[in-house]
Amino acid sequence: MTAAILELRNVNKSFGPIDVLHDISLKVHAGEVLCLLGDNGAGKSTLIKTLAGVYQPTSGELLMDGQPVSFEGPREAQKAGISTVHQFGGTFPLMSIGRSFFIGAEPTKGFWPFKIYDRNKANEIAVKAVQEFGITRIDDGDRLIGGLSGGERQSLAIARAVHFGARVLILDEPTAALGVKQASHVLRIVLEARKRGIAVIFITHQVTHAMAVGDHFAVLIRGAVAANFRKGEKSREEITDLMAGGEAMAALEAAISSHSLASETNPPAA
Ligand SMILES: Nc1ncnc2c1ncn2[C@@H]1O[C@H](COP(=O)(O)OP(=O)(O)OP(=O)(O)O)[C@@H](O)[C@H]1O
Ligand SMILES: [Mg+2]
Repeated sequence: MTAAILELRNVNKSFGPIDVLHDISLKVHAGEVLCLLGDNGAGKSTLIKTLAGVYQPTSGELLMDGQPVSFEGPREAQKAGISTVHQFGGTFPLMSIGRSFFIGAEPTKGFWPFKIYDRNKANEIAVKAVQEFGITRIDDGDRLIGGLSGGERQSLAIARAVHFGARVLILDEPTAALGVKQASHVLRIVLEARKRGIAVIFITHQVTHAMAVGDHFAVLIRGAVAANFRKGEKSREEITDLMAGGEAMAALEAAISSHSLASETNPPAA
């Protein structure tokens, strides 16, 4: 078997005295979707920021194609082919599709010092890239991002990342704010990216969405991988229970610790 595109080995992340990630080991191969499930505060965002070069692990290793790597910042991770698409697609409402597609890397025409932004070229390439992902309703690169639906915006952001050479695509809750139809569009795009050999890390709270696209699943509870399994190994109910179980356990532990604190300050009368 070929080496995973991206692997975490025993990664820990602390902020000062606060330990957020505990001994995380995960891998994702080309053409695979890894779903990262976890409740609020489980550490999902911290984990993806550690993958995307925003944070450096406190200890542990990151490997790409079997080789240890470390990223000084998000740009370095991006250069290595790790792209993150944030919720809402992270684009600007008043910008055109063509402009936002190329932001920072606009095609130009003419010769220095008379180079100008080549709007037609940008629009043509952007629309083609999005349509190749099956979003045929986007056919005019002059349209403003603000006029697109949430699902279209996500799809555009994914098509853009793939166009610019993403090998690992990190999607942070791409379907969280979407209705059923919009979410299903985005899930189709995720499968399209997978078909192109991209390793997708899909973060979600929604078990149904995860099950629709996932090859591998990891459930994160309080910064640790509580379960790691493949498609078909667990039912929807089992996955939901796992996630809820973590929450219930945390509540129980909190109750126990406040109870023991209370009994320390108020020792029972002898
Ligand atoms: N910079 C930081 N300094 C201290 N603690 C932090 C920092 N960033 C995150 N944490 C803590 O780490 C834990 C995990 O946070 P994180 O944002 O990774 O969770 P999440 O799974 O993304 O949650 P959500 O579903 O709400 O987005 C939280 O308890 C949070 O308060
Ligand atoms: Mg988060």
